[in-house]
Amino acid sequence: MSQKPKVLISDKMDPNAARIFEERGCDVDVITGETPEQLIARIGEYDGLAIRSSTKVTKAILDAATNLKVIGRAGIGVDNVDIPAASAQGVVVMNTPFGNSITTAEHAIALMFALARQIPEANAQTQAGQWPKSGFMGVELTAKTLGLIGAGNIGSIVASRALGLKMKVIAYDPFLTEERAIEQGIEKVDLDTLLSRADFVTLHTPLTDETRNILSRERLENAKKGIRIINCARGGLIDEAALKDCLDSGQVAGAALDVFETEPPAADHPLFGTKNFICTPHLGASTTEAQVNVALQVAEQMADYLVNGGVTNA
Ligand code: MLT
Repeated sequence: MSQKPKVLISDKMDPNAARIFEERGCDVDVITGETPEQLIARIGEYDGLAIRSSTKVTKAILDAATNLKVIGRAGIGVDNVDIPAASAQGVVVMNTPFGNSITTAEHAIALMFALARQIPEANAQTQAGQWPKSGFMGVELTAKTLGLIGAGNIGSIVASRALGLKMKVIAYDPFLTEERAIEQGIEKVDLDTLLSRADFVTLHTPLTDETRNILSRERLENAKKGIRIINCARGGLIDEAALKDCLDSGQVAGAALDVFETEPPAADHPLFGTKNFICTPHLGASTTEAQVNVALQVAEQMADYLVNGGVTNA
């Protein structure tokens, strides 16, 4: 009988992950797209579970995971894992906080350009046989103020790109020191100041009790008129109903969401079809490079834990 640790990869992941597990001395199965019931029936035989965002590791799954020692999330957010239940069971939860940062930052910049020049709607109308040249007056990014809500790993990459575009960058982040802000060429401000000054706001913070609805109705209504908002972080940071109202009234000139409070959003989500609203289906981390990075990292970390007891990014 094999004494090797057994790992299940339960979400679509770059094949490098399976290769690394094998090279590091683990047995690995790749079985994706299962129902929670199927996973519950299977999970008992595994020491490690490698996931992206589709597998929801609930208490019921953890209860059945009698051999499980580690869960590895190929990505940043671990909100699809019941952390208290995992901790209570002594299961280590790891993520890969750096592998997809550049890719996510680039998506935020892409959405900022898309908003500034209304590219999705212009594309749709042009391909529909129209030539709506006068209907799309954009705005320049140069000399505009970009407000970062969250200036950590991803936020600081966005800042560096935005500075390269000759934007002024201001940031609200309780963990950002004045020294680090100066070093990065950005100005640390409080949230109300940020919202009163920014032409574009981009969110780069996890969803926690403190950040839930950080862009509340009140804050949206009191922000600088004509502000444009980008969210490639987590749904739940913005009051979506208030955002709809503020787009309708013109208080918010544009919004680009890669993430929604409920994913996937309902087909009749109130924001769909709203003027100056654009969205993508949680593609922030979806590049070839980022997916190779996170797959390699998660497999290295998990195998190290299962084979040598090494703990990284837990
Ligand atoms: C992450 O947490 O790494 C990103 O949101 C990417 C993803 O969930 O696919």
